[in-house]
Amino acid sequence: MSGSKTNGTVQLNEGSTNTELPMVEGTLGPKVIDIRKLYAQTGHFTYDPGFTSTASCDSAITYIDGDEGILMHRGYKIEELAAQSDFMEVCYLLLKGELPTSEEKAKFTKDITYHTMLHEQLIQFFRGFRRDAHPMAIMVGVVGALSAFYHDSTDIADPHQRMIASYRLIAKMPTIAAMAYKYSVGQPFIYPNNELSYAENFLHMTFSVPAETYKISPTLARAMDRIFILHADHEQNASTSTVRLAGSSGANPFACIAAGIACLWGPAHGGANEAVLTMLEEIGSVERVPEFIKKAKDKNDPFRLMGFGHRVYKNYDPRAKVMQQTCYEVLDELGIKDEPMLKLAMELERIALEDEYFIEKKLFPNVDFYSGIILKAMGFPTSMFTVLFALARTVGWVAQWNEMMEDPGQKIGRPRQLYTGKAQRPFVPLVKRK
Ligand code: SDX
Repeated sequence: MSGSKTNGTVQLNEGSTNTELPMVEGTLGPKVIDIRKLYAQTGHFTYDPGFTSTASCDSAITYIDGDEGILMHRGYKIEELAAQSDFMEVCYLLLKGELPTSEEKAKFTKDITYHTMLHEQLIQFFRGFRRDAHPMAIMVGVVGALSAFYHDSTDIADPHQRMIASYRLIAKMPTIAAMAYKYSVGQPFIYPNNELSYAENFLHMTFSVPAETYKISPTLARAMDRIFILHADHEQNASTSTVRLAGSSGANPFACIAAGIACLWGPAHGGANEAVLTMLEEIGSVERVPEFIKKAKDKNDPFRLMGFGHRVYKNYDPRAKVMQQTCYEVLDELGIKDEPMLKLAMELERIALEDEYFIEKKLFPNVDFYSGIILKAMGFPTSMFTVLFALARTVGWVAQWNEMMEDPGQKIGRPRQLYTGKAQRPFVPLVKRK
């Protein structure tokens, strides 16, 4: 494991047997106990169903300090990237490990932009869906189908093909996402305009119509670009782990990203941004906030405060703070004063953060808490919120997939289990079953 070093050992004592396991230290964060030889040496497995204490890989892409609320990509804090960089630079950084020079950035942007169009036959895929199909269902289907159209970039052993497939995925996600939206509202698909920036092109394909001139607001384009940065990558979250596990079998990158999209859709993960707006609409007024806080605390009530809590952050999600600031900028640009959903969300946050239950369990707003309010104000339907998350997270998924594929020690992921079923028993013929 490059970038790490063995640092001491731990003893595992069972009866008269002592097993010594190496401790490995990375650049930052907790040390790990290397248990790769544990089963061979002890005949035991470890047990960690939700991976709460398990490192599934080593990675140099993103680091999160959940206690301090710190998120860094290749060593750069998310706050600095959101304020001073742009999404194309962050894509370059995630994929290649360094911020680009102006020449590198210009070439990378050109290379990505070159791939924004879809194979024309893929348009037929959209027509097979009902108009009211959830756009995430369309994303899973169409992205998975890309492997049927881009055979020239599915040989994962070829670094050049891995790079082309990576660029195609980053470039085509906005086109596919915009088409999913257009299909749902019965408007014609809008082709990409490669004179525009990544975020501008997405807004153009989503909101322009052939019959009128569409004027892109620089403030909204900047906000869209920043929202993409905030969602770009996040260590070994559920959907990234899905992409890695799918990729570990040698599946092509388009199929792996389709698997990641499917996992992200869940309300406990990327689907939370849509669920937050649904929850705020259900709460309806500030007066009802205490009723829902009570529900969230009730062990017998499955209701959870969507957009709150996180497996890793036991402090404020740094992305949520930037998102809240972006919310003010977008609402101000759109001339929306006193947006009721924002006022409700802020009151909900204030009450929750003062409540003993949320304090004790260290539940803070996460990236999904404010994003939906911004996206709704920008004109996106709630069903598109997770699509935008998937659009932005594609670069993270692809960067993590490439990191895994470049690892000479890469092997198929195949967890074991604690078996709790029946011990061996003889078959009972049908005639003898009561
Ligand atoms: C994302 O992993 C990532 O990095 C994901 C992500 C990324 O960028 O990829 O950051 C994006 O998915 C953000 C999370 C979006 N999801 C939500 O907002 C849904 C609401 N949040 C929860 O479902 C929950 O907080 C999770 C799923 C996010 C985290 O769950 P964990 O780590 O498994 O924690 P847990 O369920 O064990 O909760 C610990 C305790 C429990 O109480 P006890 O059983 O200990 O008594 O906190 C409670 C939970 O009941 N709890 C909540 C709560 N979240 C946790 N109670 C009320 N409301 C909540 N939102």
